[in-house]
Amino acid sequence: MSLLSIKDLSVEYHTDAGVFRAVDQLSFSLEPGRSLGLVGESGCGKTTAMLALMRLLPDAGRIVDGEVLFDGVDLLQLSPAEMRTYRWGKISMVFQGAMNALNPVRTVGSQIGEALKLHKTVPRNEVSDEIDRLLEIVGVTAESKKQYPHQYSGGMRQRAMIAMALACRSQVIIADEPTTALDVMVQAQILDLLQQLQAELNLAVILVTHDLGVVAEVCDDVLVMYGGRMAEYADSDAVFNQPVHPYTRRLLAAFPNINDPRSELASIPGHPPPLNDLPPGCRFEPRCGVGGEKCARENPEIIEVAPGHYCRCLIARAEER
Ligand SMILES: Nc1ncnc2c1ncn2[C@@H]1O[C@H](COP(=O)(O)OP(=O)(O)OP(=O)(O)O)[C@@H](O)[C@H]1O
Ligand SMILES: [Mg+2]
Repeated sequence: MSLLSIKDLSVEYHTDAGVFRAVDQLSFSLEPGRSLGLVGESGCGKTTAMLALMRLLPDAGRIVDGEVLFDGVDLLQLSPAEMRTYRWGKISMVFQGAMNALNPVRTVGSQIGEALKLHKTVPRNEVSDEIDRLLEIVGVTAESKKQYPHQYSGGMRQRAMIAMALACRSQVIIADEPTTALDVMVQAQILDLLQQLQAELNLAVILVTHDLGVVAEVCDDVLVMYGGRMAEYADSDAVFNQPVHPYTRRLLAAFPNINDPRSELASIPGHPPPLNDLPPGCRFEPRCGVGGEKCARENPEIIEVAPGHYCRCLIARAEER
């Protein structure tokens, strides 16, 4: 049994323009000490899927199907009070940009202390030392515990959020990487920190990103999403060396070759389909270029092209590998 196992998760948004499905039958699993990279173009449903599994969707969002099993317990069946012991207690999310779970009117140290007391992580007389220890682990000086979140830089706030997750003894950390908010250096440092924690504390990490280079460097497994659905899912080695889905192949081709700085960045022409006007067949078909006539009509099922390597494509075949 996996630590975290998502099965057929589907999420809809109810808007003035109608109801549309932002996440459709998404499945994946995660083991302690492993990291999963969740990639795909803007709007493909990455953040929605993560908010859904934390049960933190905005009012317009509804989970319409699926299971979120943590150690075999379906989080979607829990009462709001029971869910609170899992949210932050077992699974934490380091949010993108402005959506910050830190309280602006309390010092960072007192908030970490609160979490330690709430989760009874250490005896009361050790709380103060533990705050210092956790801040040190995430690379924030102990003096900074007296400061308020607004006095922190973006990178420090992310570090503080990771310290909070550790204070709650979370076993899974979801890092939803901001597209723009942090500069590249800071981002790299946060990723290093997550990688170190994953190894030292046996944490499971989900990294949401647009950056395939980061995924190649950091993640054990990769899930490529397109139009709310899984396109391809396998371990990093398989996805990077033997990609099967035409979308994954195009994403990889669009990624500049680190060994050849002169290589051109080839972007994928066109845009993902609007969720309120999805093509009847494969969602990538309008941009694919290698599909057949069938692809425009038939919805592809998920196939296992090799053990543990999943792909949602009509033309992907095991013998291609
Ligand atoms: N609160 C909301 N109400 C209605 N639609 C929403 C809401 N939040 C997101 N959406 C829509 O759901 C789809 C998926 O959005 P989501 O933010 O999950 O994508 P994403 O993959 O995280 O994108 P990015 O890489 O830009 O962060 C998009 O079409 C988006 O416009
Ligand atoms: Mg997002």
